[in-house]
Amino acid sequence: MTATFEQDIKPLFRERDRESMKPVFDLWSHDEVVENADAILERLRNGTMPCDGAWPDEQVAIFERWVEAGTPA
Ligand code: HEM
Repeated sequence: MTATFEQDIKPLFRERDRESMKPVFDLWSHDEVVENADAILERLRNGTMPCDGAWPDEQVAIFERWVEAGTPA
């Protein structure tokens, strides 16, 4: 099953993530996450975002596969 933004990706971003990142982009907006997907993936991979603790590898892999699948809504 291919991950979709609404069902699988958006729920990975906490309210706190969204609020913190709002001045830069909206993590609950499909379009804005797609526009910033490369930067987001880089930060998730190198563990510098979220600022309060890196995601587990498996969670980063879900985001990565969603990008490779063409970022379905
Ligand atoms: C999964 C959640 C998050 C993702 C994917 C994320 C992603 C990103 C990305 C891609 C940037 C670089 C933006 C740019 O330069 O255009 C960034 C910057 C930033 N984020 Fe987040 N963020 C997340 C959560 C948070 C949280 C929880 C905080 C709370 C402190 C935070 C605070 C910041 C700050 C202060 C910056 C600007 C300074 C810097 O580049 O380190 N972010 N974030």
